[in-house]
Amino acid sequence: MTSLFDPIQIGDLTLANRIWMPPMTRARATQDGVPTRIMIEYYRQRATAGLIISEGVYVNGDSSAFDRAPGLYTQEQVEAWKSVTAAVHAAGGHIFAQLWHCGRASNAALTGGVAPLSPSGRNEDLDKLAVQGLLANGEYVKIAASPSKAMNSEDIARTIADYGNAAANAKAAGFDGVEIHAANGYLPHQFLSPEVNARKDAYGGSRENRARFLMDVFAAAAAHFTPTRVGVRVSPLATYNNALDPDPESTYADLAQRLDAVGAGYLHAADQNAMAGGPSFLPRVLEMVRPHFRGVLVANGSLTPETGASLVDEGMADAVTYGRPFIANPDLVGRIRAGAKLAEPRSVGWYAMGEDGYTDYPALQEA
Ligand SMILES: Cc1cc2nc3c(=O)[nH]c(=O)nc-3n(C[C@H](O)[C@H](O)[C@H](O)COP(=O)(O)O)c2cc1C
Repeated sequence: MTSLFDPIQIGDLTLANRIWMPPMTRARATQDGVPTRIMIEYYRQRATAGLIISEGVYVNGDSSAFDRAPGLYTQEQVEAWKSVTAAVHAAGGHIFAQLWHCGRASNAALTGGVAPLSPSGRNEDLDKLAVQGLLANGEYVKIAASPSKAMNSEDIARTIADYGNAAANAKAAGFDGVEIHAANGYLPHQFLSPEVNARKDAYGGSRENRARFLMDVFAAAAAHFTPTRVGVRVSPLATYNNALDPDPESTYADLAQRLDAVGAGYLHAADQNAMAGGPSFLPRVLEMVRPHFRGVLVANGSLTPETGASLVDEGMADAVTYGRPFIANPDLVGRIRAGAKLAEPRSVGWYAMGEDGYTDYPALQEA
C-alpha cells in the first residue's frame, strides 16, 4: 500500500512525499517580470510539499497572458529567482519552474506591441481566450485577445530556443528542474489541438506532428537538465482557451508514449472541470495516459486528502497536487498528516494584492 507520505524518486531526485504544490499564477512580480521579496516567503512557507512547481514563468517577452507574472529570460529575473530557490532548499524542499508561453491567449499590449503567436492564426474565437489585464486599482479584468499571427518556421525555431534558454536560466537560478506547461490552452496545447493547429508542415496534422512542438521544447529543456528533471503538464479535456480535441484519447495516449520513450521526469495530468463547477473528468484523464506512461504520473484537480490518497494507493497516480488548498494551508502536508481541518482560501488576493491573501495564511501551530 503506497501512502501520500511515502518518498518518491524522480530520476536522481528523492522527494520527501507525494503531496505536491501545482503551478499557480499569483502575479506578485514587477512589471518587468522580476520576482519580488514576498515571493521568497510565499514559497519558503510551502517547502514541505514533496515538490513545489512554481507559478507559470514566461520563457520570453512575447509569451505573456497575465500582467505581473514572472519571467526567466533576463539576468535580473534569474538573480531574483535565486533567493526563492535558496529559501526553499534551506527549508528542505524542492522546486521546479513551470515554463509558460501563452501563444494566442494574449494581447499585443502584453507582448510588446507585436501580435501574439499561434500555430495557425486561428482568430474567430478570440472571445473564448482568457487574457488578464491589471487595472490601476489593483483588480484584474478579462481583456480582449488580439488577433494572433501564424508562426513561420523561424518563429517556431526561435521559440523552442527560448524555452531552452529559459531552462538554462532555471538551472542557473537554482531550480531543481522544469515543468513544460502544455495544459490550459497555452502554446504547446494549441499545437496539440487539431482545432487550433491547422498547419500543413511537420508541426501539424498527424498526432506525431501535433506533438512535435512539445517534444522539441522538451528536448531543448532536457539539454540543460536531464530528461528526468523535465516534467510535462497536460489537461486533455480542458475547455479553457478553447484548445479542443475531438479525440483526446488518441492524442494523449500517443503523447504519453512519446514522453515515456524520452524518459520524462513526470507527467502531470490536470482536470479543472470540477473547479469550474462541473463533474470531475480526472478519472477519464488518468485512464487515457496511465497505461502508456511508466514514469511518475501526477494527478490534479479538486482532490481532497481522501481522494488523493486513494488515487496513490490504487496506483492510478504516483503523486498528487493540491492547488487552492496550498494557497490557504502553507503547511498542507502537516495538516493532512495530522488529520487537521483545512483552511479555505479567501476569495480576494489570488492575484497581485501584495501580502494580503498570499503570505498571511498561518500554519496550524500559529493559527
Ligand atoms: C490562482 C490560481 C492560479 C493558477 N495558475 C496556474 C498556472 O500558472 N499554471 C497552471 O498550469 N495552472 C494554474 N492553475 C491551475 C492549478 O494548478 C490547478 O490545476 C487548479 O487550481 C485545480 O487544482 P485544485 O482543485 O487542487 O485547486 C491556477 C489555479 C489557481 C487557483
